[in-house]
Amino acid sequence: MRFVTVVVLTLSVTGAAAAQTLACDPVLTKRVWAKCSACHTVEKDKHKTVGPSLHGLFTRKAGRAKGYVFSRSFQQADFAWTDVTFDAFIASPQKTVPGTKMAFAGLRNPEERAALACYIRQPSP
Ligand code: HEC
Repeated sequence: MRFVTVVVLTLSVTGAAAAQTLACDPVLTKRVWAKCSACHTVEKDKHKTVGPSLHGLFTRKAGRAKGYVFSRSFQQADFAWTDVTFDAFIASPQKTVPGTKMAFAGLRNPEERAALACYIRQPSP
């Protein structure tokens, strides 16, 4: 009986995540992603000259994208990417990871930051 409860719980959590993905506003995400796409892709292992691929970002720790050489700051960073850490970093990259080589001032608008998290979570090649 306990086992059944766990399975049902797991399914409903997965369902919620899927619903969140579907809720990505396509117009907003397209407009905001344009601020990142000069330096990043969301394709697997496809790093740009400047920045690392953000594929599978929310499944890994900061500064660990394979085949990309991060700054010392990111190499020494010790946190996983979650909605909370991503939101803080995009709001103010230099404050969150001092010394990062990501030359981006930050996004003040929380809706835009949430839209990016949603976009990066969407399945991509
Ligand atoms: C001018 C180029 C540039 C722009 C624009 C830029 N980034 Fe970056 N980004 C970088 C670089 C370079 C790094 C590697 C940082 C380091 O090693 O210190 C990075 C790192 C990151 C990381 C850490 C990746 C990891 O695997 O830990 C995330 C997340 C990220 N950027 C998200 C974004 C998002 C979202 C945007 C758009 C709002 C954006 N970046 C805009 C250049 C850029």
